[in-house]
Amino acid sequence: MYRNLPAWLYNAVFYEIYPQSFKDSNADGIGDFNGIIEKLDYIKDLGCTAIWLNPCFESPFRDAGYDVSDYYKTAPRYGTNEELKLLFDEVHKRDMHILLDLVPGHTSVDHEWFRQSMKSERNEFSDRYIWTDNIWEEPTGCASIRGISDRDGSCGVNFFSHQPALNYGYYKPDPQKKWQQSVDDDGPQETIKAVKDIMRFWLTMGCDGFRVDMAGSLVKCDEDGKGTIKVWQNIRAFLDAEFPDAVMISEWGEPDKSLQGGFHMDFLLHFGPSHYNDLFRCEAPFFSGNGDVSEFVKKYKESCEKSERKGLICIPSGNHDMDRLSHSIHGDKLKIAFAFLMTMPGVPFIYYGDEIGMRYVEGLTSVEGGYGRTGSRSPMQWDDSLNAGFSNAPKESLYIPQDNAADRPTVKEQLTDSDSLLCEVKRLIAIRQAHTALQSNGEIEFVYAEKDKYPLAYTRTNDTERLLVILNPSDTETMIPFSHALQEKVYEFGDAIREINGKLAAAPCSASIYRF
Ligand code: NOJ
Ligand code: CA
Repeated sequence: MYRNLPAWLYNAVFYEIYPQSFKDSNADGIGDFNGIIEKLDYIKDLGCTAIWLNPCFESPFRDAGYDVSDYYKTAPRYGTNEELKLLFDEVHKRDMHILLDLVPGHTSVDHEWFRQSMKSERNEFSDRYIWTDNIWEEPTGCASIRGISDRDGSCGVNFFSHQPALNYGYYKPDPQKKWQQSVDDDGPQETIKAVKDIMRFWLTMGCDGFRVDMAGSLVKCDEDGKGTIKVWQNIRAFLDAEFPDAVMISEWGEPDKSLQGGFHMDFLLHFGPSHYNDLFRCEAPFFSGNGDVSEFVKKYKESCEKSERKGLICIPSGNHDMDRLSHSIHGDKLKIAFAFLMTMPGVPFIYYGDEIGMRYVEGLTSVEGGYGRTGSRSPMQWDDSLNAGFSNAPKESLYIPQDNAADRPTVKEQLTDSDSLLCEVKRLIAIRQAHTALQSNGEIEFVYAEKDKYPLAYTRTNDTERLLVILNPSDTETMIPFSHALQEKVYEFGDAIREINGKLAAAPCSASIYRF
């Protein structure tokens, strides 16, 4: 059995909200907490049970809020701390849960810790970041910020060059480089304490846990992740003592490591070793009907084995860093992709707008450090009113320009069309909710996942039922051997499965679930 997970994770389906672009309640062109509250019933009605909210803290927004300048204060453009608390309460009233986004690896250069840390005289924050001890030496294992401080030294960065790396030490400090600290030194230990304080603050206010940004990046020159795993084990021990129900999901992409660190779940990511991109985002993605799923399945099986059921592997429809799902998967094939997402183990994550097939908006100028990601962050399309119901602000003052196409998908139009992607996604979530074998920790066995071939077939089973899932996003009928007799149909999109001489034939562009 899987490690004990908070019970609500077993049938959880998450919805990711990029707060800038979800719903603007006060006509300033940018989304906010009250806007999210207005739309909670929509998320609930979709069937989602939980929310991941991207960073909503004070920030100069050079990386859309992943450059925090005050971890304890919400960015005024979204609302006050009290309004965020109201959002937590409204979420809980609906029996849902909400995770905030914790950025433990770096801050903004505008954070007070960094300002103090840049001073030449030693102070409480001198060791909060990774600094070399003279300006001509750069830190090992990361790029650096140089020449903006009175302090004589270069400071390591974690992502963009305005995101100084918080100090969790080096896995094996080089004795020649006195400035490299070990995780057990005071500086890194103080950083860990500071992160716990931040977590304590928001958990006490009522959030249910955190999605953790770049969770694998903390300790430097830590090839196997052992140092970083130790840091997370320490943080998990604190949570177990004070907030045992707090749920943690990592942006790490290597579940064998993150789950050891005490995370309940880890994402498959568009970078790293998972072959996730083979599914939806490469030149020939499997769900476009002309790709290969075998490498993905091989890696997935490996990750499951290596992670020893310590937790869950989560497959997202997309996120704020990737191309929109609908960029390379079109029409009914999007429904087959969702049939996959809603029938895999782990916890599915739906990126806002993917459920209506929102498009990647081409040709946009970068907004808040989005660069190529900006087109996947455009405001939600609710209906046919001004700005697709996102905001009453003049069109020119929207946070990011919207898809201007006359046929842009909207929630309103899709809710009235039972053949729409949105209605299919709702049906699929409902099927997942009705069948425990399809949920987080039901078993999976791959029945058919051959190189360059279709369909993809797997069984999902537990003590109460045995289900066969067959997904054929290709344009031709495909056959697979399956030795059990099929019983009743649980779900079907497209034409039915045919049984021919002991083989099963899956119709072009079809998805089916049968009891067997
Ligand atoms: C990953 C986040 O998802 C991304 O949006 C951000 O730019 C980097 N981490 C840096 O925090
Ligand atoms: Ca607003």
